Amino acid sequence: MNFMTPEKTASLLEDIESSEDIKVPTDPLERVIGQEEAVRLARIAASQRRHFLLVGPPGTGKSMIAQALSLHLARPTEEIRVVHNPENPERPLVEVRSIDEVEKELESKGYAEGEYIDPKEAPVSVAERLGYRCSNCGTYSSPKEGFCPKCSRAKVAQVKSTANNPFGDLLGGLMEVTMGQMVGRERVTTTRKRFGKEEVVVFERAGEMIKVLDQQALEKRRELEKESPKKVIVPITRNPFVLATGASEVELLGDVRHDPYGGHPQLGTQPYDRVVAGAIHSAHQGVLFIDELPHLGHLQRFMLTAMQEKRFPIAGRNPQSAGASVRVDNVPCDFIFVGACNIQDLPHILSPLRSRINGGGYEVLVETVMPDTEENRSRLAQFVAQEITMDAKIPHASRDSIMMLIDEARRRAKFVDNRDKSLTLRLRELGGLIRAAGDIAVLEQARLIEPAHIKEALKRARPVEEQIKDRYGSYMGAISSDMSTSEKESSPYQYWNYHVYDDKRGYQ
Ligand SMILES: Nc1ncnc2c1ncn2[C@@H]1O[C@H](COP(=O)(O)OP(=O)(O)O)[C@@H](O)[C@H]1O
Ligand SMILES: [Mg+2]
Repeated sequence: MNFMTPEKTASLLEDIESSEDIKVPTDPLERVIGQEEAVRLARIAASQRRHFLLVGPPGTGKSMIAQALSLHLARPTEEIRVVHNPENPERPLVEVRSIDEVEKELESKGYAEGEYIDPKEAPVSVAERLGYRCSNCGTYSSPKEGFCPKCSRAKVAQVKSTANNPFGDLLGGLMEVTMGQMVGRERVTTTRKRFGKEEVVVFERAGEMIKVLDQQALEKRRELEKESPKKVIVPITRNPFVLATGASEVELLGDVRHDPYGGHPQLGTQPYDRVVAGAIHSAHQGVLFIDELPHLGHLQRFMLTAMQEKRFPIAGRNPQSAGASVRVDNVPCDFIFVGACNIQDLPHILSPLRSRINGGGYEVLVETVMPDTEENRSRLAQFVAQEITMDAKIPHASRDSIMMLIDEARRRAKFVDNRDKSLTLRLRELGGLIRAAGDIAVLEQARLIEPAHIKEALKRARPVEEQIKDRYGSYMGAISSDMSTSEKESSPYQYWNYHVYDDKRGYQ
């Protein structure tokens, strides 16, 4: 009977001065308070890759659990790309590469990139032809500058069209600069002797540096150029948690963007390059989280297919767009589906989707209260520490404040859920109270959040319905007094109240 007396709570938190002394767990699932069953199942869902449905009122940790679950998954090991199909550009091919292959490719690409050198290290003739060195005075400057900053001459004397012009030396630079281009040439090919052998070297302009490609790098580059062009649509480094709440069809399933030139080989963008992944593809090997699941409406059917097949084509979804004729088949989408909704929305979830989750995963009703035990009170203290640490803009809470927040959690369990000897788990709102108290503490430049701050915050943070009740006595009373004076005159609906219908003359 007296296990929840304040003295008992005090003894529990005796050896701390403030929430700063409470350790915040590193395991994201351990930060979820009071939802033991949901957390237990989330761990299984993560290790066994099962779907998951969380049902319950807002602010009880459903999103938090979904995100924590994704952090328990192994990192993605596959990258998804779309490759140009020369035989049929409107049917680009999908390519899946393992993390090892991706890393190897990066390495060889880096090799084909060549080496970067300072323009001063390049042969003088090369530096001049690329536009880094003034052929007149030998000063080095950026190829963006048409005139030598030292001697003011055009840096590259002989430039294409202006070569025969008597003012060519001046116009050369000028013309190139006004055209927004750089002086000199893009690339110079020469030969050099290495280990007694003559070999081809290419020098390329690369901003303020010069890129050097030796024979091996050139061969590598040629090899890469032979490969079909491709686009990475789901990169190897990606967030394993994809939020698709309220997603449109295009956002959920992917799309092929429109191109006014319809993929014309020169003017347009090739179809493969216009392919965009949907949330279901981005969530490959991760978690696809959909809050307020029933709002997905008819899209639930596509979800179901994606979950069954673990592959889903990407096609242009706007029939008016040039993307409509493009389709990529078999794009992987092997995700763990986590859905959330509140109890009254449950009937609006498509039953095959429900049975899919049920048959291949877990459904759990989250708790709204937890028993008021010593252990749970200390978990609530952990919650206070967490919220403050996450917020990072408010000071820690004193021990007395933590106890007051626990009292408030007890009051809310009774007030909102009509449960005795319990603590509320509607923690988003309790978090809001902590932040409001913290803001007051900040304004007062207090070192810690104290009970006075919480009292003040409690006054301010009341739901608007409660405030209305206080001011007007009742909610209905407020509505009628709001409809007073001005609206009676201006509202078109008030017409009927003041004008009487006359059979002969109509309304007046
Ligand atoms: N069970 C819980 N344990 C710890 N913090 C919680 C819990 N429930 C809610 N919170 C806090 O409230 C915030 C909102 O919770 P959220 O997971 O978005 O609720 P829901 O998805 O159920 O509406 C969380 O980011 C967290 O700060
Ligand atoms: Mg949520």
